[in-house]
Formats: sequence, C-alpha cells, structure tokens
Amino acid sequence: MTYVRKQEVSQASAGEGSSVSLPEYLQKTYTWAYLNPKTVPFLSSAPVVAAILWGNANRLIRMTTDEIEPGQRVLQSAAVYGRFSTDLAKAVGSNGHLDVIDVAPIQVETAKKRVKGFAQAHVKLGDASVVQTNPYDTVACFFLLHEVPEDMKEKIVNAMLKSVKPEGKLVFVDYHKPARFHPLRPIMTKVFDWLEPFAKGLWGKEIRDYAHEADQWNWQKETIFGGLYQKVVVTKR
Ligand SMILES: C[S@@+](CC[C@H](N)C(=O)[O-])C[C@H]1O[C@@H](n2cnc3c(N)ncnc32)[C@H](O)[C@@H]1O
Repeated sequence: MTYVRKQEVSQASAGEGSSVSLPEYLQKTYTWAYLNPKTVPFLSSAPVVAAILWGNANRLIRMTTDEIEPGQRVLQSAAVYGRFSTDLAKAVGSNGHLDVIDVAPIQVETAKKRVKGFAQAHVKLGDASVVQTNPYDTVACFFLLHEVPEDMKEKIVNAMLKSVKPEGKLVFVDYHKPARFHPLRPIMTKVFDWLEPFAKGLWGKEIRDYAHEADQWNWQKETIFGGLYQKVVVTKR
C-alpha cells in the first residue's frame, strides 16, 4: 500500500521520550479503512457505522457509556467512527476528562474535529499497547481488539489493565463468536476472512485469556445480538 509511509512521532500519553509508530498490521491490512484520506471521511460517518454494526451501534455505545460516571477520568483506547467519542465526552461531563488516543495521525486529526466543542475531550497520538502513565477511572476499549494480531491483543489487554486505577474498570466491547445458527454467521465469516483477518481470534478465545494475571481481576461478560458482540467489564478483585 502506498498511501502512508511508516511514521515515528513523539507521543504525549506514553511518557517523555517514547514514540509511536504506525504498526505494520495497520499499514498492511487496514490502510483502506483507517489511513486513506479518501475513504476515512466516508467511513467515519455515523450511518456507515450503524450499517457496519447491523444497527447495533447506538446500543453498544450506550452499553459503554452506562459504565461511566460524570466527573471521571476516562481513556478511549483508539479512535472510533461515528458518535462514540462525543457520547463518552457527554458521559464524563464538563467536570470530567476524556483522553482519546490513536496510533494513526489521520485518525487523531479526524477525532479532534469530532470532539471540537467538548473542552473535556483531549485527542492525542498514542498506542494502546503501552501502559499509560496517569491511570484512569475507566478505560473503554471499543472494537479495537478484533483489529489487531494476537500478540497485539495480548499487549493491549495487559497494558490497558495496568492503565486503570485500583478501583477503576476496563470495558471491552467487541466482536464475539455468534451462535451456531446465527443468520449473520456465514456473512461475518466471509467479511472477516476477506477484510478483517485478526477478528476471528475473538471467536476462539475469551478476552480474559489474553491477560497475564487474569485471576487478579473480575471478568463480567455479556453477549449481545445472538452472540455476535460482547461486552466485558473488568474490575480489580
Ligand atoms: C478502534 S478501531 C475502530 C473500529 C470500528 N470499526 C469503528 O467504528 O471505527 C480502529 C482504530 O484503531 C486504531 N488502532 C489500531 N491499533 C492501535 C493501537 N495499538 N493503539 C491505538 N490505536 C490503534 C486505528 O488507527 C483505528 O483508528
């Protein structure tokens, strides 16, 4: 792919002197979705997100914002198309603080435009596989894990667990293996095989299986829409 060259950019959220590079998986697999300036504006619109998530976008966003209380310090671990960031900004309120990080500069710029007008929202370049220096009340990891290779899933889960305060929580919302006779299962199989090669990792493993010290945490999982999606809330034991 020729749209983007590997970039190294200094990064605020992972500590002084650290750097963020565009990961190879993103450049090789997802340039069409996240790095191409021609497709990003179209794909990032709310109706497209609603269609991609089979009409479940609002419900899945609400299931995440339900976990947030006004005034909290919240991390969104990667940019998300549609209204996710603005809904998180509304959930923390004007006395709260929302950090949105993303490894791709174009996504950082797009997300900044989206949250313009919400003084509590701050968007910066950052890598979710890196432990954040200043921990959060809530970390929201929304449809990121299915986008990354298995070793990266492990790094992100463990880095995000270390980025929550002892009394805080980590909320994952992502794909899940649908029920055997789910009508969308054959379609999602084709979509994943064609476009999202890392997604089926979540069909074979629980999110807690990626955690190094899973027993030190409570894992509360629920599945949605015939099992196609999951929400996992993680709190310290
Ligand atoms: C969170 S997913 C969002 C997927 C979803 N389909 C949506 O509604 O937008 C995609 C984002 O993750 C970002 N990303 C990929 N790997 C990352 C990482 N290690 N750290 C932070 N952001 C990452 C990509 O740049 C992209 O903007």
